[in-house]
Amino acid sequence: MSESLTPDLGRLSSDLETLATFRDPKAPGWTRPVFSAIDREGRAFVAERMREAGMEVETDAAANIIGRVRGTGRLAPAIVTGSHTDTVMGGGRFDGIIGVLGAVEAVRRLAEARVELAHDLVVVDFLGEEPNLYGLSCVGSRAVAGTLEPEHLALVGPEGHTLGEDLEAAGGDPAAVSEARWAAGKMHCFLELHIEQGPLLEQAGIPIGVVTGIVGIHRFLAGFEGQADHAGTTPMALRRDALLAAAEAALAIERLAAAGEAGGGVAVAGSPDAGGVATAGRLEVRPGANNVVPAESELWAESRSPDDGWLAEFDRRIEAEVAAIGERRRMGSSLRRVSHEEPVLATDWVMDVFGRAAAVCSLDTLALPSGAGHDAAQMARLSPMGMIFVPSRDGRSHCPEEWTDLEQIGDGVAVLAEAIRLADSTSE
Ligand code: HGY
Ligand code: MN
Ligand code: MN
Repeated sequence: MSESLTPDLGRLSSDLETLATFRDPKAPGWTRPVFSAIDREGRAFVAERMREAGMEVETDAAANIIGRVRGTGRLAPAIVTGSHTDTVMGGGRFDGIIGVLGAVEAVRRLAEARVELAHDLVVVDFLGEEPNLYGLSCVGSRAVAGTLEPEHLALVGPEGHTLGEDLEAAGGDPAAVSEARWAAGKMHCFLELHIEQGPLLEQAGIPIGVVTGIVGIHRFLAGFEGQADHAGTTPMALRRDALLAAAEAALAIERLAAAGEAGGGVAVAGSPDAGGVATAGRLEVRPGANNVVPAESELWAESRSPDDGWLAEFDRRIEAEVAAIGERRRMGSSLRRVSHEEPVLATDWVMDVFGRAAAVCSLDTLALPSGAGHDAAQMARLSPMGMIFVPSRDGRSHCPEEWTDLEQIGDGVAVLAEAIRLADSTSE
């Protein structure tokens, strides 16, 4: 029987608590947005933990932090794991974070147990997985997968700089970002540990979720150009109010996703007729004064589904709705695509490795799809991919109440470490 890879919970907890201190004190929860100084400091802490764990650490042109332990098999492709440490506004302490710090703990346990891998073992803290001010998510993993395009780098944010400029300030090199791309075949597999961010594992009383696939996500921006007017003297019938147009668009998004016009309404059921969900989560209005009729609005929104066809149908219908709202309200309208992530399936043999690893740890598993997006969806373009989830209390996430008990995170780390050991001697 090989030595147990059960993590040192004290050490893991100390790392999680220290990273949680890197937060914007003026924002709710644990806010650490990509391109902020606090995110850069947090990621420097992660790099230090990797070095202490004996890894060679580099920062690539996309500002990904990459730690590596050399394997014994020369030229063997790498086993890669990791996630992200940026958070959403008012986010929590676990989303993405356990997949990075948990992986570092797995590296330490593998070294302590003197496990020698044939493959290199690589841990990545991907830059900016959460949607940023430019509306783009997965900046770092996109660069690795080769899907970070020059037009992404040229996007201009509300503060007037480009994504490329922010990337440079974060330690990347936008001019050389194509060098961050990995060749297909460079990886043996990609493994990601994450919190579930939903209620299924807790409800079932099962400690480990083996992810079957990740939803597709289409992000878009509905824009309306009305007319600024005096809020006291302009009769209601003469107004061209861009905020009201955006409000109608937000309601149309809800109606299309929920009412069955483009499908069912639950994105995570994992079957082709599973339907989808859609959300308008950000609204900008100009000039933004309560005594001026709004002249311009921008509504940032997304739809998600495991079904490509559902996503395409939703796109078609919302585009028609936005145009119709603009016409009815006598104003210009536009619908701009921000990003399209296609649905991906986990790789059978990697799911099997996770199942066997959980059995070694005497932990039950539940197969479940992911309604959340992940860096793993980008990495699946390059390599066999699998993910595991640990339970989220009350299914909460993207909020300060996000919580997973340390022991539950420890279960996930133990399974990740076993899966790394098993993947080393497994292939398709
Ligand atoms: O938005 C998402 O699904 C992920 O949490 N970044
Ligand atoms: Mn998230
Ligand atoms: Mn995440």
